[in-house]
Amino acid sequence: MAERKIIVLNDAGELYVRAAEEIAHIAGESICTHGEFSICLSGGLTPAATYELLATRFHLSVDWKELQFFWGDERCVPPDDPESNFAMVNRTMLSKLGLRSEQVHRMRGEDDPANAARAYEEELRSHFGVGEGEFPRFDLILLGLGDNRHTASLFPGDAAIHETQRLVAAVEVDAVPRRRLTLTPPVINHAQRVMFLVAGQNKAAAVKDVLEGPCDADKYPAQIVAPLNGEVIWMLDKAAASLLANR
Ligand code: 6PG
Repeated sequence: MAERKIIVLNDAGELYVRAAEEIAHIAGESICTHGEFSICLSGGLTPAATYELLATRFHLSVDWKELQFFWGDERCVPPDDPESNFAMVNRTMLSKLGLRSEQVHRMRGEDDPANAARAYEEELRSHFGVGEGEFPRFDLILLGLGDNRHTASLFPGDAAIHETQRLVAAVEVDAVPRRRLTLTPPVINHAQRVMFLVAGQNKAAAVKDVLEGPCDADKYPAQIVAPLNGEVIWMLDKAAASLLANR
């Protein structure tokens, strides 16, 4: 059963710092316990400032050589496209860390989506040593929440919300760019920890529906997030948490 923690910060600035602190702490804990920290990164706008903080103010708090970076979703565009999630993470954090190329496992948004999804699935199976019917266990998966209640690239009504076998899906969504790659629910729910970063009044209704609304994953895809044997942390600013009855 997933353990759920909700942390509410005064504003987005405080949220960015607190998220960086938590990530640095979890990285240290994972490296101490099993010598590596596997983190799955989210795209969108909210995590960018946290990534920048990790690469600057928190640079000395993390043993970067022990990290393995993956992505929770990617837009089907080349890696230098302004819409690319890899490009955003690379610009804000990875390019400043002096990493070895084998630490960075990006989804290939420039390739045919079905092939890219298969290739990423193989990369995950090989890195984590998992066979058919098994799922990787990330130390931490970062997620955002869209105002339409999507997370990663699991959008309302998409069949990928109900995927139980594949690790990665190629989807076409009602957003720009339309074609995307996304981790599937069983991968997200095998993680040790999942952390949502959500800020702003425009997310308040989505946060309320996902956390306190009726169970309806097709309408509120972020409700699928419930790590089987792990923890989910909702990092919210006051505005995003403003409609919650219980926190
Ligand atoms: C993406 C995402 C997506 C994102 C949410 C929230 O590639 O768009 O990974 O799931 O996290 O849309 O995005 P914001 O942080 O920009 O609100």
